[in-house]
Amino acid sequence: MATDTLTITDNRTGTSYEVPVTDGTIPAIALRQIKTGPDDFGLMTYDPAFMNTAACRSAITFIDGDRGILRYRGYPIEQLAERSSFLDVAYLLAEGELPTSAQRSKWEHDVKYHTYVHTKMIKFLEGFRYDAHPMGMLLGAVGAMSTFYPDAKDIQDPANRYIQRVRLMAKIPTLAAFAFRQSRGLPFEFPRNDLDYIGNFVNMTFSIGGKHEPNAVLQRALEILLVLHADHEQNCSTSAVRAVGSSHVDPFSAVSAGIAALYGPLHGGANEAVLRMLDEIGTKAQIPAFIEKVKHGEGRLMGFGHRVYKSYDPRAKLIKRVADDVFAQTGLNPKLEIALELERIALEDEYFISRKLYPNVDFYSGLIYQAMGYPTDFFTVLFAIGRMPGWLAQWQEMLLDKDQKIARPRQIYTGIELRDMP
Ligand code: ACO
Repeated sequence: MATDTLTITDNRTGTSYEVPVTDGTIPAIALRQIKTGPDDFGLMTYDPAFMNTAACRSAITFIDGDRGILRYRGYPIEQLAERSSFLDVAYLLAEGELPTSAQRSKWEHDVKYHTYVHTKMIKFLEGFRYDAHPMGMLLGAVGAMSTFYPDAKDIQDPANRYIQRVRLMAKIPTLAAFAFRQSRGLPFEFPRNDLDYIGNFVNMTFSIGGKHEPNAVLQRALEILLVLHADHEQNCSTSAVRAVGSSHVDPFSAVSAGIAALYGPLHGGANEAVLRMLDEIGTKAQIPAFIEKVKHGEGRLMGFGHRVYKSYDPRAKLIKRVADDVFAQTGLNPKLEIALELERIALEDEYFISRKLYPNVDFYSGLIYQAMGYPTDFFTVLFAIGRMPGWLAQWQEMLLDKDQKIARPRQIYTGIELRDMP
């Protein structure tokens, strides 16, 4: 008769063990009992990069990589992208439900009234070199904010967690816009409470002499991009936030670890890398030679491939639609032609087909951001604004999860066993 257990026979000793199977997993700690003798530590799993290890239970985001499915709290990403605001999605991720209209009013009000940052933060940002990468500035600034809010250490109090969540959601657009202005030597533009979340951010970024003509289509396109980036279950930056947060540090410090992880070119830095790659390719005629180089292991086709999506990235599909809206407003971007041709050739090439490599969310997002007027080095900052709700929701879920402890993987020691000093 079938039971939800796994029987393991240790051929080193001939002993059999029965371990429970729950939700398609076995508890790794159950392997510890498998020993060859009393001095044996017990069996462990070896799983670099967590390729096959569930590190938590989570009710926030569902992904089926083979079928190209992404859902936040059960809602398909396609419906949320079409019908939700970014702040509604942020609420949904953290609270588990979309807000009622009273909840929405309170949430939007709370976020709106926490958009200012301490004036010392301006001095802090001014300390960066003129050519500092905005993502490096954001990473430092969010970490530094922990020193302005020592109350944020009280992570066990739900009301306190809420206020820190509001602060991080409210202040990240301000810090991001300030980093943008700092890079360009422009005076900082302060938050305006008469504007909505996206409108305020765009205004703080682009306003010159106190004036900016809002473009509703571009603002909605940016909002959709933020919704698409809002969470992606246990990705590299979210795992960083969870791991660092598991030490019970304040959420500003934990989130700054997420920003650091996102900065990397294999993660959030990929959209920036796509634009650099398109620059490097230069013309459509150079595409075949570039593809050959990639196939010979000289570099990667940035914006292609994903650890979990192996049929297509549903966000990439939605982004292509956003791209149409944006380019109808801004005119065609010359790099877009190269991107479209690159995608066409790669999708017909056996190398990419056999490895299940498809465009990911970052293949087109950079082109859209560029058409909206954001410089290449700012793309990952936009991703960080988008991912903030996910980091915060996952951080809280980790804290409330009774199974969780401080994250502390094991290792297989491969060094010298013992030696004496010369
Ligand atoms: N271009 C060319 N070859 C690739 C690419 C790519 N973009 N991605 C994977 N491959 C190849 C690998 O060389 C490997 O080939 P091999 O089996 O012959 O050695 C095979 O495909 C499997 O690759 P892995 O590195 O094992 O795949 P993994 O799941 O670890 O990597 C990753 C996923 C990091 C996203 C990878 O596809 C990549 O580097 N892509 C480019 C960077 C990028 O676009 N990142 C954005 C990810 S989405 C996000 O963060 C929002």
